[in-house]
Amino acid sequence: MRQTRRDFLRHATLAACAAAIPRSAFAATPFEDVVAKVARQQLLPDTYPETEIWGYDGLVPAPEIRVAQGDRVRRRFRNEVPDPSSVHWHGIRIDNAMDGVSGLTQEPVAPGETFDYDFVVPDAGTYWYHAHNRSYEQVARGLRGALIVEEANGPDIDREEVIVLEDWLLDPESGQLFDNFEQPMMMSHGGRIGNFITTNGRYDLTLSAKRNERIRLRIINAASARIFPLTLSGLSGWRVAVDGMPIGQPQQIDGELILGPAQRVDLIVDVTEDEGGVAHLLRIGDDDQPTPLVSFPIDGTASSVPRGKPLPLPPNPAANAPDLADARDLRLVMSGGAMGRMQSALLGGERLGFRQLAQAGKFWALNDVADMTDTPLADLSLNEPVRLKIENQTVFPHAMHLHGMHFRELRPDGAFGPMRDTILLAGNESREIAFTADNPGKWLFHCHMLSHAASGMTTWIRVT
Ligand code: C2O
Ligand code: CU
Repeated sequence: MRQTRRDFLRHATLAACAAAIPRSAFAATPFEDVVAKVARQQLLPDTYPETEIWGYDGLVPAPEIRVAQGDRVRRRFRNEVPDPSSVHWHGIRIDNAMDGVSGLTQEPVAPGETFDYDFVVPDAGTYWYHAHNRSYEQVARGLRGALIVEEANGPDIDREEVIVLEDWLLDPESGQLFDNFEQPMMMSHGGRIGNFITTNGRYDLTLSAKRNERIRLRIINAASARIFPLTLSGLSGWRVAVDGMPIGQPQQIDGELILGPAQRVDLIVDVTEDEGGVAHLLRIGDDDQPTPLVSFPIDGTASSVPRGKPLPLPPNPAANAPDLADARDLRLVMSGGAMGRMQSALLGGERLGFRQLAQAGKFWALNDVADMTDTPLADLSLNEPVRLKIENQTVFPHAMHLHGMHFRELRPDGAFGPMRDTILLAGNESREIAFTADNPGKWLFHCHMLSHAASGMTTWIRVT
């Protein structure tokens, strides 16, 4: 039969669509296993026993998943820990059904059972994956790891290092995790802040480096509640991406970088130390003292001079810059916590007083509601622009994370900040974010201080 013009156009359109989807999305990639297991690992110095952890493939941090932008990721999750679980792919613009939120996008996977995750990663960057059922316990036990999506044309560097920051609350006698995950003190204050910090599972991470070597550092705050103020010594460089997304022009680092729970930052640094022979990534403690997270003893020279400002990373297809003229205005008031003034809030649709809320394990509220209900914070239509004012009326900092879409901070001068998936608010601080609701589904919006999420700071939005 002769082809009509209409047939031809139809085929041409199909061919054009196929060309726009990366080839790898069609490849029959087999499923790889990711198994949540109980295991033991030497976290503390050798004089202590190994610590029992929960880890993907029995490791903390979990094995790094590294894929190319546009790839299809297929993982068969097998649950071998004694508690139902699911896996969330933090920061990925994902199909809603693959988002891994127990109770919202899937049923939790019972011990002994499996669930197949199958999704495409549209944006390059530094992401991570972690448990999303009873996260305040499961993530704190170790179910967390890096998910790296490489750009086709990466920056000019000598090498890169992925730095996963974890924070543990350990019994100093036994070296084991305290299992006080639901302790009211913790829930109503700053969350589960640990007493022992590891970097890639080590308390003394040492990576040798060369003078004038250029390293990309992908730093992930995988702690349950700790905010990391970071600083560099013997390294100088630029910030090039936050929460996975390139920021445009690289910004020279001077002073501290603050990384809230779940946030990531990508740096391109040159090893410039010429005294002492060791460069460091440091965290600034509560006592204002810097302590090393990573030591880079310098061994040899990579080049005679540092290279100067790097080029910006290539932009991602995600370009969430909403048109604010027709934006839906939303408001989120965060209340509660110790020293707060939350007298009452709605729980299960009923107004309860402070004492009853505390008995039910609720210490916080979002817009006066202390639990996840069937009613979302907002029902949005696909591609609707949104402006959301977040008012933190508590004395504690919070790290609010939106699933499924990145947003931009709307600064007081009206300018957009970089794309992020998690925004850190100081105590009693208000900030505005804006985004286009361009991913359909049910998306969680919650505090990533995970015991806060469990005790009142979780809501969701629906995009249809
Ligand atoms: Cu990284 Cu709802 O979480
Ligand atoms: Cu919080």
